Amino acid sequence: MFLAGCDGPQSALVTAGYGAERIAELFWWMLGGALIIWLLVVGTAVYAIRGHNHRFTSRHAYFLIVGGGAVFPTVVLGGLLIYALQLFAHLRDPADAGDFRVEVSGEQWWWRVRYVGPGGEKIELANEVRLPVNTVAELRLYSSDVIHSFWIPSLGGKMDMIPGRETRLLLQPTRTGTFRGVCAEYCGGSHALMAFPVVVMQPGEFAAWLQHQGTQAAQPEEEITRRGQHLFLANGCGSCHRIRGTAADGELGPDLTHVGSRLSLGADTLPNNVNAFARWIAHTEQVKPQVRMPSFGMLPQADVRAMALYLESLQ
Ligand code: CUA
Repeated sequence: MFLAGCDGPQSALVTAGYGAERIAELFWWMLGGALIIWLLVVGTAVYAIRGHNHRFTSRHAYFLIVGGGAVFPTVVLGGLLIYALQLFAHLRDPADAGDFRVEVSGEQWWWRVRYVGPGGEKIELANEVRLPVNTVAELRLYSSDVIHSFWIPSLGGKMDMIPGRETRLLLQPTRTGTFRGVCAEYCGGSHALMAFPVVVMQPGEFAAWLQHQGTQAAQPEEEITRRGQHLFLANGCGSCHRIRGTAADGELGPDLTHVGSRLSLGADTLPNNVNAFARWIAHTEQVKPQVRMPSFGMLPQADVRAMALYLESLQ
């Protein structure tokens, strides 16, 4: 059961970033040290139980109690402390501003993500973080409601997101791939449904992706997606969601300009396909308990489907 934590896209032991490599290194040293100490303690206990006490003098006892009880733990813990402190000094060097900046805000229960585009303009998206490989990304973390914690185990350590404050985290991915980030601080009913995919890409691919995210939404081309867009606006979805290039300019919920291009829906709760969009629109509160968005299950099924097709077309 415990071995299940050793693999997968959300394991701190399958490292893909500088910070995570240091943390895994520390973990293995501590595990090794703990194993040796455990063997020593169990060995001593077995020795005592088997009762070779006739050769045991008070000098031996003194040596064991002072040596094993005071000197040994002080030396081992002191050594580990020095090792860990010098290791973690590398993780948050205030002099290192990073090669580029990403702003992430924790919201109940999703992630607002903002990049700075080539011309200095802010590009907002949600529930997905993409980073170029071998580049230092400076993450500026915020919260709009309660304390959340931003954690991508494969890339680095976790950092709290505190209302009214800005925290920083430097991440340096060392290989490409798709990983998973989570909220690591209990933040209310759907805390467990607050995750996001993380994609580490080649710098060229990343630049193309970011450039595309900065463009306006695709205009619907088919009859059904046009109807979906009309229904989206007519049902008031645009008062909470923004779709750049349309009348929808709400800021309360996730930006949906390129929602069809994301790897998942609802902060990594559902896969990204038409059926999942329809399920999310009609059964929002069942999929994500206590979510702020109301379910639109009262709409005719055909309308929900048209809206789902429209959203899926926003590549
Ligand atoms: Cu956000 Cu837990």
